[in-house]
Amino acid sequence: MRVILSTGILSLLVAVSGFSDNSVRRFKDGFLFGTASAAYQVEGAWNEDGKGQSVWDHHFHSDPELWSAPGDVASDSYHNYKRDVEMLRELGVDVYRFSISWTRVLPGGFSSMKNEPGLQYYDSLIDELLKHNIQPMVTMYHFDLPMVLQHLGGWANPYSIEWFEDYARVLFDRYASKVKYWITINQPNSVCEVENFENHLPKSTKGVMDYLCAKHVLLAHARTYRMYEKEYKKKYGGSVGISISVNWAEPATNTTENVEAAEIYREFTYGMYLNPIWSKSGDFPKLVKDRVAKKSKEQGFVRSRLPSLTKDDIKLIKGSADFLGLNHYTTFLTSPSKGGHPVPSFADDVSVDLTTKEEWKQSHSAWLKSAPYGLYKACLHLNKRYDYPTIFITENGWSTDKGLQDPSRSEYIQQYLKALLFAIEDGTEVLGYIYWSLMDNVEWMAGTSERFGLYEVDFDSPERTRTARQSALVYKRIIQKRVVEEGWKPNNLKITVSKVKTEL
Ligand code: NOJ
Repeated sequence: MRVILSTGILSLLVAVSGFSDNSVRRFKDGFLFGTASAAYQVEGAWNEDGKGQSVWDHHFHSDPELWSAPGDVASDSYHNYKRDVEMLRELGVDVYRFSISWTRVLPGGFSSMKNEPGLQYYDSLIDELLKHNIQPMVTMYHFDLPMVLQHLGGWANPYSIEWFEDYARVLFDRYASKVKYWITINQPNSVCEVENFENHLPKSTKGVMDYLCAKHVLLAHARTYRMYEKEYKKKYGGSVGISISVNWAEPATNTTENVEAAEIYREFTYGMYLNPIWSKSGDFPKLVKDRVAKKSKEQGFVRSRLPSLTKDDIKLIKGSADFLGLNHYTTFLTSPSKGGHPVPSFADDVSVDLTTKEEWKQSHSAWLKSAPYGLYKACLHLNKRYDYPTIFITENGWSTDKGLQDPSRSEYIQQYLKALLFAIEDGTEVLGYIYWSLMDNVEWMAGTSERFGLYEVDFDSPERTRTARQSALVYKRIIQKRVVEEGWKPNNLKITVSKVKTEL
């Protein structure tokens, strides 16, 4: 445990004046700035050069009456990756986080059949990044499970642990000499909580599949981490983490029930993944184990719907990450649920209602409002509970409508980075910050209607033309100056390359 001198004072400042303190705080040298994307959301080329079908390809093609398939072309990064890297050079970022499409490299899901053109695509992207001194951060799995594996039960099947491990080995063998930052799985809490808070995946078997998924995803992650540790780390010296969605949750008002609801919500949505990896004892949180066991019994189940982790599982998972990838967007206020959830279900197990404050600025996504102090509070919570884990902010972002003038995004970035500087000052170990997203893309079920990009993508043009928004210049300025100048605006939207080419 460390002694942090300024916590009390800063917490007070945060609560009372919303970070209004005049000292200038800097991001120290070595702090990494980046932007992110994910394969399904940007690549397009959904069936080109031997790529197989993912659950998302399948989902959007399953009812052509109902869906257009926004990911078929998406931002067409498969053909535009050089322009993407040029944009990263314009921003002057240190890191680009992107994901590999499992079915582009292993079209049938299993490692028995590799797709060379797919593997080459990522070689080209990685080489282009390195040529310009930008570190690739590779997410191995960002929601796009091979459909073949979904037919076999997906993450509910215990063999999913091996399928993922085999896939991960293909990626390490091919790219470990060039990639130093790895993320095994993006937002396991969204992958597994399919039916409730984020609506990211096709329907599940409620209240059972979620927990099978949680167990298998954790084991798949841990086995991959141990494989890297044993077979690759010494030679290549990279690091492996996992990205968890950690939006802050606090009581709507200070009643005992609301305080309890906040703890329940936090433990079920992220404690489930953080506790097994970062706590001293490992395993799922006690609160979750007790609550699901009690409900399962009442519902007539012979055993808890939450599968247990064995002693060996707990040992394998504990400490299996070099950094905690934090995906943080917003804050929610908690109170006990008024009911109405299917029984059994994850939502019923949690039974917490979420609200927000009227005065928080609304983005173009219904679930996303700006409450920057939440990032500060989330960091302090993690420090206290998990003894100062090393954090990489792997996502933080804001959605708008179309248009190049996006003052609300600039303000969001400035305020969240300011909150992050406070969290760092109060002892949080942060390696870097990655803005979601480099460019507009397919926001899953919302299609292209919610724009998260620093660059606008013209989805009506065959070239998917990219143009820098005002916020791109604001972010560039922060990266250059390493301070947040609140209210700073560019005079025009001209952006030029600032990243120097390196010799390989
Ligand atoms: C988190 C997910 O990782 C990403 O795919 C999504 O686009 C953003 N949140 C915004 O919703």
